[in-house]
Amino acid sequence: MITKNDKKFALTLKAVNADSKINELIIKEQGVFTLISEEKTMYLYFDSKCECLRKLEKYLCTFIGINKYDINIDVESFLNIYKSKKIEAFRTLIEVASFAGHNKFEMKLKPKTNKSYNFIYNSTKELDDMWNSSTIKMEFVNFARDLQDLPPNVGTSVEIAKRISDKAKTVEGIKVTVLDKKQIEAMDMGLLLAVNAGSHVDPRVVILEYVGDAKKPKTVLVGKGISFDSGGYNLKPSNFMKGMKFDMSGAAIMSSTIMALAKSKAKCNVASVAMLTDNRIGGHATLTESIIKSMNGMTVQIDNTDAEGRLVLADGITYAVRNLKADRIIDAATLTGAIVVALGKWHTGVFTKTDAMWNELEKASLNSLERVWRQPLLKEHLQAMQKTPIADLTNAEPSREAGSSTAAAFLDIFAEKKEFMHLDIAGTAEANNRGKAVMLRTLFEMLK
Ligand code: BES
Ligand code: ZN
Ligand code: ZN
Repeated sequence: MITKNDKKFALTLKAVNADSKINELIIKEQGVFTLISEEKTMYLYFDSKCECLRKLEKYLCTFIGINKYDINIDVESFLNIYKSKKIEAFRTLIEVASFAGHNKFEMKLKPKTNKSYNFIYNSTKELDDMWNSSTIKMEFVNFARDLQDLPPNVGTSVEIAKRISDKAKTVEGIKVTVLDKKQIEAMDMGLLLAVNAGSHVDPRVVILEYVGDAKKPKTVLVGKGISFDSGGYNLKPSNFMKGMKFDMSGAAIMSSTIMALAKSKAKCNVASVAMLTDNRIGGHATLTESIIKSMNGMTVQIDNTDAEGRLVLADGITYAVRNLKADRIIDAATLTGAIVVALGKWHTGVFTKTDAMWNELEKASLNSLERVWRQPLLKEHLQAMQKTPIADLTNAEPSREAGSSTAAAFLDIFAEKKEFMHLDIAGTAEANNRGKAVMLRTLFEMLK
């Protein structure tokens, strides 16, 4: 938890460099912490020229990782070091303290209590505005992370839908719609239903709408919400099934982004569509070579039941185009193993034919310290997905060449010429078995 100018704690964290008047006992090496116990102060030393925000992020993360106490943060001392980037450094301090200070989801008999970080600074309009918008944003980053971390027996499609809609109802200005199985059937979301076919848990679609400025083009955020991906009849080998509870990360992130925008009263026009189901085996589960009609009318041959994300997203994108009248669509999905091979945990893969959208996203990502890397999206990738004689599309192309791009091309065709951007977060959604709500901060900065 973070607070500002609250009652003070015993211990204070303070940044220093060679220009500061400091105790000679302080170790003068960049990134090193020295505790001077008589002063009840922990000093963090910076090189004189250092104004690197990533370093600040790294040092603070390390500190919070080992700190056992409630602590004051002497914000002014950090702003003195980040002279030309005061406001960015302030944002980084807030983000890292809220993120790293948020305890892991747990179901232990005796849960740990969150540590408090009390920010001490001289109030100005600029700093207070940054405080307000960043703390709201981080509230929803941590909300999304807690959803991601739910074990799959608790975080079912139905439960995730409930938690998202309950939270959204606490935010003024959001219209909440939850579609149950009957309504999903009535909408002809054949692809979502085909993925859900093997499950005893019903699917859900959660739509959140927020209009902060009706004149702005409408952006719809679609999220992959597979509460557990076993692979279906193309069953994953057991070592590949680990972590598949995180396959709902896109839905958690996209829904939480809208809530953060609405709560901070951003001047934007946005909606989110969370496509929720698990992907299981069982007597009713979809068989390979089945041909399924999508909501859009196009037919899809299911050549691999483990390529389920693109199926549920396709119907979500059609809903965004047809029912929500989107001007542009962005989706986030833990979509392909191929992007993990290409970019690892370091970058989110971005696919779009629209340079302008890519430029906006990249710019926002630099402020959020989240790394993105643009990937190719060609008509050849679509053609590979159309190589099936008896349906309009296949959901899995056998050669697996450029597997992340062919998956993106499959989604792109459902956007029906609307501006479209796909974020493949398969490698970045979680780290050390813990959700990161990756891209939420970037999308928030981009859309606000
Ligand atoms: N959820 C997986 C992708 C994934 C892999 C996420 C690793 C996180 C870590 C997705 O549904 C999947 O299984 N994709 C297949 C597609 C293939 C069958 C065309 C893949 O990438 O192997
Ligand atoms: Zn899969
Ligand atoms: Zn999946």
